Amino acid sequence: MSEDERPVALVTGAGTGIGTACARALAAEGFRVGIHYRSSEEGARKLAAELDGSFTIKADLADGESIDAMIKELKDVAGQIDVLVNNAGFNINAPVLSMKLDDYDKVASVARGTWYLTKLVLRRFMMRKGTGRIINISSVVGHTGNAGQIPYTMVKAGLDAFTKSLAQELAGREILVNSVAPGFVETEMTDELPEEIQEQILTKIPLGRVADAAEIADVVAFLATRGSYIHGSVLHVNGGMYGG
Ligand SMILES: NC(=O)c1ccc[n+]([C@@H]2O[C@H](COP(=O)([O-])OP(=O)(O)OC[C@H]3O[C@@H](n4cnc5c(N)ncnc54)[C@H](OP(=O)(O)O)[C@@H]3O)[C@@H](O)[C@H]2O)c1
Repeated sequence: MSEDERPVALVTGAGTGIGTACARALAAEGFRVGIHYRSSEEGARKLAAELDGSFTIKADLADGESIDAMIKELKDVAGQIDVLVNNAGFNINAPVLSMKLDDYDKVASVARGTWYLTKLVLRRFMMRKGTGRIINISSVVGHTGNAGQIPYTMVKAGLDAFTKSLAQELAGREILVNSVAPGFVETEMTDELPEEIQEQILTKIPLGRVADAAEIADVVAFLATRGSYIHGSVLHVNGGMYGG
């Protein structure tokens, strides 16, 4: 168990993009941050060197045993998880006719792992303490749909349903669960989109620009530390492209 008395926030997929921004924002709010990664070890380690008291932790969320091992390690390294940010996500772009069954499974397996990790964090940490915050990073496309992303949009819509169902299951407890649904954010995930698609996207955003990851992390930090009467909600952060 750690001697550090700061509350602990675990951010999944924190070695890259929005997850890195969330880890920085939560550290600035006084959390000791668990920087989870799967393959982005270098990014995770650099971030850990930057954020005082933080630690890295590896797991493949597509693999239940890997999640079990991470929970065990978290008990030793952190002792407590006060905030869980389910940020990790995976997408494969392809139209329905060429998407393979295996592609679907790859996208859906991270959602399955998110559910399982949340269950274990609740059981091993938050239920015992009686308080906690869970923040799921979903997406605007789970509400609007997006051509070429059927499994991804299904998973993201499902993640918001998970938020709402879990909020009801947690009735009577001081454990709050919410979603943050970003629009388009400047990260590797969006950089990979073809230029004409990126231009098309901009025409749909009233603010006329994609978000900086820090603008998503800002809302996550708010839900982690304030927002004490927000529960079972989806906060849309998308520059005006969709209001819910
Ligand atoms: N960028 C956008 O415009 C946008 C918009 C709406 C929502 N989002 C959502 O925001 C979240 C972060 O996305 P991002 O834009 O920052 O993209 P990203 O850089 O591709 O981040 C995805 C993260 O998920 C992790 N991950 C993927 N599969 C995993 C697995 N099987 N096990 C464990 N970790 C896994 C990756 O970890 P490793 O790199 O360590 O493997 C990576 O850090 C995602 O849920 C995404 O769907 C993004």
